[in-house]
This record gives sequence, C-alpha cells and structure tokens, in this order.
Amino acid sequence: MGITIRGTGKFVPEKILTNADLEKMVETSDEWITTRTGIHQRHLAAADVATSDLAYEAAKQALDMAGIKPEELDLITVATVTPDMGFPNTAALVQKKLKAQKCVCFDLEAACSGLLYSIEVAHSLLLANKKYRKALVIGAEKLSSIVDWTDRGTCVLFGDGAAALVLESSDEIEGDFYIAGKLAADGNYDNILRLPAGGSAMPASHETVDQHLHCIKMAGQETFKLAVNAMVSACKEVLEISGVEPENVAWIIPHQANHRIISAVAQRLTISDDRVYSNIERYGNTSSASIGICLDELNRAGKLKKGDVVLLTAFGGGLTWGAELIRW
Ligand code: ACO
Repeated sequence: MGITIRGTGKFVPEKILTNADLEKMVETSDEWITTRTGIHQRHLAAADVATSDLAYEAAKQALDMAGIKPEELDLITVATVTPDMGFPNTAALVQKKLKAQKCVCFDLEAACSGLLYSIEVAHSLLLANKKYRKALVIGAEKLSSIVDWTDRGTCVLFGDGAAALVLESSDEIEGDFYIAGKLAADGNYDNILRLPAGGSAMPASHETVDQHLHCIKMAGQETFKLAVNAMVSACKEVLEISGVEPENVAWIIPHQANHRIISAVAQRLTISDDRVYSNIERYGNTSSASIGICLDELNRAGKLKKGDVVLLTAFGGGLTWGAELIRW
C-alpha cells in the first residue's frame, strides 16, 4: 500500500490591504514593513466570510485536481486558530458545504505549525487503518478577525487565506510521500504568542473586549529568535533521520512569517536562495495556511517534478514547531 498527495488547492480573498493602506491606519511605513518583514500586501476576507468559506474554496480546487468527489472522503481536518465558532468544528462546516456525507471531521490547533501537525496526523491514520483512504487536509485562517488593528507591532504581519491537500492511500499507489517528520512543542513559552481571551481561562466580557484581549499578542523579537533555532534544528533532524543531504532538497518551504526568518533558516541549512519558496510579499503570514499555499503555487506552476524532495518547516504559538520531508 502507498500514500500520495493527490491534489492541492488554495484560496485567498479578493480584497488586498497594502502597506500604503496600513500607513493610514497606524504609525508605520511601507519601508519599515518591507525591510523588517518582506510583506508588501495581504488579502483580507469580507465581514460575512468565515474561515470555513475560505477552506471550502481551497478544498474544491484540491478535490478537483485529485479527481475525487466529496462523498468519497473518509476524513476532513482543518488546522486553524480562527475557527468559525467554538463548536461545531470548522471541518464539519466544510463537510456540510462540500456535501461530503460519510467522513470523520475534526479541527487541529497548533497555530502556524497546524498544517504540519495535520499532515502527520492524517498520514498516520491513513497508514494505520484501511478505513481511512481519502483525507482532505486543510489549513485555513481568517486572521483579520483576531488582529488588533491599532497595534502596529502585529497588524502589519497577518493575512487571510486557505490551502488544502488531498491525501490518498491505496494498494495501487507505490511508495509514500512522507519521508520523515519531526514535530515539537514547548508550552513553557505560552506567553510570547497568544490570543488571551474567549476561552475558559478568560471568557468574553466587556473588559476583555475593551482591552483588545480577543486579539493576537506577540513578543516579536523573542519569537523571532526561537523560530530560527527551532526550525533549523527540526530540519536538521529530519534530514539526518532520512539520510538526505541539503543539496538534494529540491525546495524548502518555510512557514511565511518573516522574510528574515526564512532567509536565516535556509542559510543555516546551506540551502541556496533559488530553492527557497516564498510568497510572503503577497500574502503576509496566513498561519496554518501559509505552507499549503506555497505548495499549491509551486505545484500549479509545474515547479514540482515527480520524485522531488521538499522540506516543509513551521513555527508558531504554543510554542509548536516542526519539519517534514516529503517526496513529490
Ligand atoms: N512600523 C514601524 N515601527 C514599528 C512597527 C511597525 N509596524 N512595529 C514595531 N515597530 C517599532 C517598534 O516599536 C520598535 O521601536 P523602538 O525601537 O522605538 O522601541 C522598533 O520598531 C523595533 O521593533 P522590534 O519588535 O524590535 O522589531 P523587529 O525587527 O523584531 O521586527 C517583527 C518585528 C517583524 C514582529 C519580528 O520580530 C518578527 O517577525 N517576529 C517573529 C514573528 C513570528 O514568527 N511569529 C510566529 C508565527 S505567528 C502565529 O503563530 C500566529
């Protein structure tokens, strides 16, 4: 039995917020945002669009590429920090929109590492149990709904978007796309990147709204330093486990949080710039969607050849981080 990535898809809303637009909202400049982050613009969803709507659009594309009907799916998982609501889970809401009747649905929350965590979980289920044959793995975020638009330290960073992968296991498929993975977490750093209110620890109240506690809080510099070290060490570990040399990696796709983080990670792994995929200038940080959006762009541009080894790495709130080596 083998397991493969049968299809990919992405969706970003039409509306674009440029750095020039942000200059009118907070005390910032295009020059600061561009040099410090690499971001030129981000896409924002309309008020009446939810994460499941973004996920649904990306899912349709991935299923179409895979040639798989929604009713054939055994599993839908959505990685997100911006679920439509507390419950039902966003995956179930995507299931409803797709009319995918017979599948198991759950969300997975590992912040910006969410898609890597989801790939590992879905791949493990497909490997372990023949009742799971076709899985839809989604990373989707409406981060604009949890951004504090008065905080220049965070509001310039994030954007909305979704990405989807269709995984299939079958006796007819040869090999396994998944070569090696290393996932990690350290809850001791829970306070450097968080959305404090709205959960059981701090339910919503007038005070939490007045104090903007339903918005992303981040200690930027501390996060930056930890991100580079964590991603480099996870990448080194998966390369070592699998016996793959950095020069044999066709592409590295790091989570799109900051172009300086992306460059630092690639440099320390001795992966040349022409093999680093980045689109942060167009989308900003879309959290759990970012790696999947990159993968879909590479795939649809015909830049992934059969057999290419691709290194995915992510870092996010939790803290959570990891790396996965996949074969196209
Ligand atoms: N415009 C202008 N000035 C700004 C802005 C802005 N948008 N934001 C901050 N500044 C100022 C600060 O106030 C500070 O001014 P001061 O020196 O007078 O105090 C100065 O710029 C430098 O601030 P730093 O925070 O030190 O800037 P830094 O170079 O670290 O860049 C950034 C900040 C972009 C946030 C960076 O630290 C970063 O990318 N961190 C990592 C983010 C990340 O990886 N997040 C993880 C994923 S997110 C998730 O999981 C949901």
